[in-house]
Amino acid sequence: MGKLAISGLPDRALAMAGKAYAPYSGFRVGAAVLTEAGALHLGCNVENSSFPVGVCAERNAIAAAVAAEGPEMRLAAIATMALDPVGAAVACAPCGACRQAILEFGPMAKVIFRTDAEGVVTADATSLLPGAFSFAPAS
Ligand code: THU
Repeated sequence: MGKLAISGLPDRALAMAGKAYAPYSGFRVGAAVLTEAGALHLGCNVENSSFPVGVCAERNAIAAAVAAEGPEMRLAAIATMALDPVGAAVACAPCGACRQAILEFGPMAKVIFRTDAEGVVTADATSLLPGAFSFAPAS
């Protein structure tokens, strides 16, 4: 996908929310990733009749980025945006599982999302998951 600045990510995420498969919650979410390689990758939430099988937009965008760039993929930034059933942008903070997934590929990544109180905000990935789990494989 093409090159893009961080400032363009929220609009791309919001557009992607329109592609979401969310018949159970009605909560459509899009995510836009900018990688350190300078590429854009997108994902939306994809729900399932077996509810836990559903996957968030952020993790689908990260999966798309890895699929495109391989295991060296690193996140520079990720934006999350959500649409209500009538198509208005609504607040959506990345869930805890997605925060863990973001940290795996971008401890220095900027994380952009909409809150009710402050509108669109930008946070550092590490600040969003204090005391995060990490795993060092035995050597
Ligand atoms: N969802 C996301 O896609 N990202 C988040 O960060 C929070 C929640 C999705 C999961 C589910 O399909 C719907 O929103 C309602 O929880």
